[in-house]
Amino acid sequence: MTADPRPVEDLTEEDAAAELARLAIEIAHHDTAYHTRDAPEISDADYDDLRRRNAAIEARFPALIREDSPSSRVGGEPATGFAKVRHRTPMLSLDNAFGAEEFEEFCARIRRFLALTGTLSFVAEPKIDGLSISLTYENGHFVRGATRGDGTEGEDVTANLKTMKSVPDRLRGKVPALIEIRGEVFMTKADFLALNQAQAGAGGKIFANPRNAAAGSLRQMDPSITASRPLSLFAYAQGESSEPVAETHWAYLQRLQEWGFSVNPLSRRLHDESEAEAFQNDIGLQRAGLGYDIDGVVYKLDDLRLQTRLGFVGRAPRWAIAWKFPAEQATTVLKEIGIQVGRTGALTPVARLEPVNVGGVLVQNATLHNEDEIARKDIRIGDTVVLQRAGDVIPQIVSVVLDRRPPDAEPFKFPDLCPACGSHAVRPPGEVVRRCTGGLTCPAQRVERLIHFVSRPAFDIDGLGEKTIQEFYNEGWLHSPADLFRLPEREAEIATREGWGKTSARNLARAIANRRRVPLERFIYALGIRRIGATNARLLARHYGSYQNWRTQMLAATTIGSDERLALGSIIGIGPAIAEELAEFFGEHRNVETIDELARELTIEEAVVEQAADSPVAGKTVVFTGTLETMTRPEAKARAEALGAKVTDSVSKKTDIVVVGADAGSKARKAAELGVRTLTEEEWKALVD
Ligand code: IVH
Repeated sequence: MTADPRPVEDLTEEDAAAELARLAIEIAHHDTAYHTRDAPEISDADYDDLRRRNAAIEARFPALIREDSPSSRVGGEPATGFAKVRHRTPMLSLDNAFGAEEFEEFCARIRRFLALTGTLSFVAEPKIDGLSISLTYENGHFVRGATRGDGTEGEDVTANLKTMKSVPDRLRGKVPALIEIRGEVFMTKADFLALNQAQAGAGGKIFANPRNAAAGSLRQMDPSITASRPLSLFAYAQGESSEPVAETHWAYLQRLQEWGFSVNPLSRRLHDESEAEAFQNDIGLQRAGLGYDIDGVVYKLDDLRLQTRLGFVGRAPRWAIAWKFPAEQATTVLKEIGIQVGRTGALTPVARLEPVNVGGVLVQNATLHNEDEIARKDIRIGDTVVLQRAGDVIPQIVSVVLDRRPPDAEPFKFPDLCPACGSHAVRPPGEVVRRCTGGLTCPAQRVERLIHFVSRPAFDIDGLGEKTIQEFYNEGWLHSPADLFRLPEREAEIATREGWGKTSARNLARAIANRRRVPLERFIYALGIRRIGATNARLLARHYGSYQNWRTQMLAATTIGSDERLALGSIIGIGPAIAEELAEFFGEHRNVETIDELARELTIEEAVVEQAADSPVAGKTVVFTGTLETMTRPEAKARAEALGAKVTDSVSKKTDIVVVGADAGSKARKAAELGVRTLTEEEWKALVD
């Protein structure tokens, strides 16, 4: 055991940071030896000592708790045993604004979308740094509570929420038969400190910040643990409701209070958008003295009718924005610039830093984005740099402290050869990213793809860590994802390798065999297509249902302007930019071959197809032409799409409806020629409203 034997009380902050870093590596190593290889290298008692030492140091220096802290991996582990709940109305997130200018742009976008001229009224609410939940009430009784999850589906934490005093079991007064209420569960700063102290005394899990403490406390399989944790709730938004409850958001907040919820007392109604900046500054000044963490202010358009008209784009409403406080900053020294080769060949420079605490998180790496960024900021190895972290965003280098630059620091020369395979790394004109041209011959790209492929949200194959993948790759056993399913044939050979044995080789073969059946969404995610993370993969799976259908539609969507491309870009949450990314992927025949080869090894389970919106225009192709009077063209298009229609620009035999505004020209004539149904703007509104 290599832990520092000094009493925790004698450690300086620097010693503690170094030791936590060492413990994280050492404990992770023993975890792998024990769980993955079935080959523990130390006794259970020694292992427990390591964890206890880690917890004791974290308790004394909570600001140094690392993102990869061993204490965040076991103990109050994110529970996976909860039943899944589908939200009746999706729980979406918010777009951010940093500064008055971006807030004004947000207001201007609203005005453009709705063709309004006057100023706008908002409700401003502090943005609580907790976790959002949805509470369902039937006839005033609390029946279900769920975490946000991916926005569409969360975890059923009803039993845990029932233990919270601030979640009313019965609502007071007149309540709709069915109503979903959304809010933020959080822990006050004082409660958080007291909890960590108690946890340290009991040798329990230490939380990095109040947000993690609240999340860890709510996501407990045993509700009595949640009951013992001091959780609070502010209610702030509506989900589904069987009848309208208010005309303005402000009135809705009053209703929430009448029913028995707490609403943040600092919430204000701003009659004019010009009041926002002063409010933002005022809350910024109060921030440090508040009993709970906030990271900005949320501005919501007060008029609920306008909110409905504005709707959503991607995953965020057009009618609200989170104006964030400026990011936290710190200075440190840049020790080295590493170059990572990602699974799409992008060369990304990464700053290796002297570890430093930025806003409660220990940072040792920061993204440098690309070579232009390094040149623009003239960042050199050895420089003292200003580092910044905003919320969950990856830390960034803001600037260089020039008068602390070592005299011999040289400008950084970005490599033009791939550090992994030596192929030329080129930068197409007009692009910022330099990419390795080695394609699938580049080991870094292949290995990165394979690592992604077996990762937990993808094929989730136990026993195949980064090191093993690299090893098997070097052996020539594992070059494409399909090779993975041929690994079990080498079980005997694997068993004889250093660090392996019969049991671990058999476990690996079993783990792989168990994954020959895979849900479509995991399959799509595993392919590692740019911008297709777990959420988008799920959206695609639910939209297309079967692998064959998805494959066919994606191939057809490679044609720009095809119906399939338009349909793909119209999926809520996908949008045209991601559609283009998918089209590009499927336009490359080597990718299609790799997928086909893989699919032959697998049984890909179908997803339950999302029912098209229950509306008279669901699945219909609609064209708007001429000048519309009661709504702008973007509003008309967004509303039609939200109701499940496909909006296109040109009229053809496939068009179902042409909405004809004033002064319509050739499209209206063409519709008449082809016998396509035409509607006036008024008739259209009568149909959809
Ligand atoms: S409204 C459709 N109001 O911020 C709008 N969110 O970045 C739904 N949050 O997931 C959100 N305080 O967890 C809203 N007063 C507030 C909030 C708030 C904190 C969180 C919430 C949401 C996240 C979005």
